[in-house]
Amino acid sequence: MSTTANVSNLTAQLIEAFRQIVGRDYVLLDEESLAHYAHDETEDLHFLPDIVLKPSSAEQISKILVICNREGIHVTPRGAGTGLSGGALPHLGGVLLSTERLNRIIEIDERNLQVTTEPGVITEVLQNAVKEKKLFYPPDPSSRGSCFIGGNIAENSGGPKAVKYGVVKDYVLNLEMVLPTGEIIWTGANVLKNATGYNLTQLVVGSEGTLGIVTRIVLRLIPLPVHDLLMLVPFQSAEKACEAVSAIFRAGYTPSAMEFMERDALVWVSKFLDSSSVQIGDEVKAHLLIEVDGNDMEVLMRDMEGIGEIVQQFECGDILFADDAQQKAELWKMRRRVGEAVKSHSVYKEEDTVVPRAELPVLLKGVKDIGNKYGFQSVCYGHAGDGNLHVNIIKGDLSDEAWNGSLKEGIREIFLLVKALGGTISGEHGIGLVQKGYMDIIFDATQMRLMREIKRIFDPNNILNAGKIFD
Ligand code: LAC
Ligand code: ZN
Repeated sequence: MSTTANVSNLTAQLIEAFRQIVGRDYVLLDEESLAHYAHDETEDLHFLPDIVLKPSSAEQISKILVICNREGIHVTPRGAGTGLSGGALPHLGGVLLSTERLNRIIEIDERNLQVTTEPGVITEVLQNAVKEKKLFYPPDPSSRGSCFIGGNIAENSGGPKAVKYGVVKDYVLNLEMVLPTGEIIWTGANVLKNATGYNLTQLVVGSEGTLGIVTRIVLRLIPLPVHDLLMLVPFQSAEKACEAVSAIFRAGYTPSAMEFMERDALVWVSKFLDSSSVQIGDEVKAHLLIEVDGNDMEVLMRDMEGIGEIVQQFECGDILFADDAQQKAELWKMRRRVGEAVKSHSVYKEEDTVVPRAELPVLLKGVKDIGNKYGFQSVCYGHAGDGNLHVNIIKGDLSDEAWNGSLKEGIREIFLLVKALGGTISGEHGIGLVQKGYMDIIFDATQMRLMREIKRIFDPNNILNAGKIFD
């Protein structure tokens, strides 16, 4: 655990000004509240903010940012705090600006298949609200039951459904945002096509709260598929499981989820949830969780059969076909909670590697070889259909010296491999605070200069989520 020494430039006068803007109840200075907002879900990192503000509108945020911009006060925006790269950590102290009170779904436009929402709505709540109208917002990070849609925009989140339906960026049409200067803008238009000037909307998606604070979001929706089928396939070799993935796509199938879990991932989550739903044989080294969805059950049954035949060619064991909604929910719960299970097992570091899908077996083997070389254990799982492998490095018995020292070189070696395979160092968790030291692997000086200059245009005084993505 690390903590900042907060050099506070908050005067009583400024605190009073914030109270006038958001109301006394929404300015927090007590130790317990500050401690609550000192961490997100990233490793075991804690940094205390000097003050927590909970505005309820774009206008309030604008007034706050005008003051902070004038006074040179750091502002860290925060959604639900479920991030895994430290994007919401107030590592420089200052103002922690929580979007939790901007929590209204403004309108579901059934004529145009769109929803307008504030950022502090829990993703699953939004999904369920549109589902009632038989509409579908697919991006579904594992934390969807607690994360905010605003955080998903900031990180360009993915999740299991991305393999068929795409990630957050594929659904965002238009954003209202408050710039660090206090100006309020819309980035685009509520239309499905837009070839009008630079695409500010897509620049903001995935910008990790460094360019502005998003206060309204317009998303496109699609019709809700009626049926889905799910199977869990055990393999005697983790690499073979990864090889099966691209074979399935090559054969013409597009599953709505194609998730990979190494043996330990499923063993640990079974223990964590005290679940005996899946019997894991001694010979099993990995599983694929494969889902198909659509409107015609016969087609889906044929797809499952076809996929079942393909996986046989990769030495799989007995396939578990989920019988009913309850069993599907149980299997999905297990998959979604692997991250928590790993966290409860040991101190760990999460690397969010992504490579072109067919390179996944090479990546997995490389991660294990590098682990052997540096003496660390890893458990890998993730969105195999996207080539997106979450490499969780387990501290276990590793000395603090190795954990804080040579491990960095090991991680660097993993990322160099990722780059050599045509991939990149984050698929969906972002760079935030903890991965910025590896940006040089992916981007050269010119690319970094462009990013820094973009940041400067939006945030000339570097007050907003400073020191995230890059220094
Ligand atoms: C998952 C999160 C960690 O895939 O991205 O479970
Ligand atoms: Zn994931």
